[in-house]
Amino acid sequence: DKGEFKHYMLKEIYEQPDAVARTLEMAIDNAETSKLRDDFLQRHETQLAAIRNVQVIACGTSYHAGMVAKYWFENLTRLPCSVEVASEFRYRNPVVVDNSLVICISQSGETADTLSALRDTQKQNPAGLVSLALCNVPTSSLVRETDIFLPTLAGPEIGVASTKAFTTQLAALMLLVLKIGVTQSRIDNQRLTTLLGELQKLPGQLYASLHLDADIKAMSESFEDKKSCLFLGRGLQFPIALEGALKLKEISYIHAEGYAAGELKHGPLALVDKDMPIVVLAPKDSMFDKLKANMQEVHARHGELFIFASESSKMLAEERMHVVYVPDVCETLAPIVYSVPVQLLSYHVAVMRGTDVDQPRNLAKSVTVE
Ligand code: F6R
Repeated sequence: DKGEFKHYMLKEIYEQPDAVARTLEMAIDNAETSKLRDDFLQRHETQLAAIRNVQVIACGTSYHAGMVAKYWFENLTRLPCSVEVASEFRYRNPVVVDNSLVICISQSGETADTLSALRDTQKQNPAGLVSLALCNVPTSSLVRETDIFLPTLAGPEIGVASTKAFTTQLAALMLLVLKIGVTQSRIDNQRLTTLLGELQKLPGQLYASLHLDADIKAMSESFEDKKSCLFLGRGLQFPIALEGALKLKEISYIHAEGYAAGELKHGPLALVDKDMPIVVLAPKDSMFDKLKANMQEVHARHGELFIFASESSKMLAEERMHVVYVPDVCETLAPIVYSVPVQLLSYHVAVMRGTDVDQPRNLAKSVTVE
């Protein structure tokens, strides 16, 4: 039931504050916020204590969640983490090192390539292999075939374009990073307390970002007759740029590419002209000054900039520059909050162009064949 919403996708975008809050409650007790709940993944502590390497395998949007997790794992725990799309991983005879945690991320838990990649790693049977399903469907094949099940509590996702599954995957991945960090004494108490405090604010920040809907709808009008679009981000926002481009292309059928903004000079800058909209994920973080230089590069070549920036950055819009201010959020969790404006932008562009938002052409919700 879509209730008051015109599409399932919009309903699911709006469900994100609750879905993320539910997912966080698996590990965070609202009455005791200085530590993780004792019962969170308690049965698996011995397994998690022994892992020395993380390998993430997933497809599509779930792969983008894995890319964010790589930044988190390496930055917060210093455990090496690789991320790969399942359809490549499974066919290139990859090395799975001993004591690896293999994380398969899948909303459906039935994605053929992800399942096969998992089975291949199990067949290789490296010492100390631990497999984990991060999945939205408890009864799925993926959950049955893995050692550990970490659920996303998104509730059923009907729209083919993944929204609340993605943000709940990110929330659950952050909990997992913290759990492993604490179990292996790789995260100190102060950092843990700070991050837990920030996580508590997350549902409210997601809720506040939904208030940008009208501004983003207004912004979307500039995209109606566009043929092609770039999404730029750096650091933790690079995967969100890829996700924004995927969302836009799959539901509006506008060609879109996500790029790490630092790569502009190495090719895509040649595409930029006055007809090229460039969406930039620009929170005020450690990469902001570098990103500003990248924005100037495209602006100087007459590209039209659509910027999602922090409220506190007080970035001023100039000619050929549109700015929507996103609520302030700590750098580590910003990719979760910045997912919302890119989802809303894609949604409104698609509605304006009259495409089938919930059932885009040629796509299926669950890809059970390779
Ligand atoms: C995009 C989208 C797809 C899925 C991909 C993996 O919006 O939904 O890219 O993310 O097909 O599906 P799961 O997560 O079910 O394995």
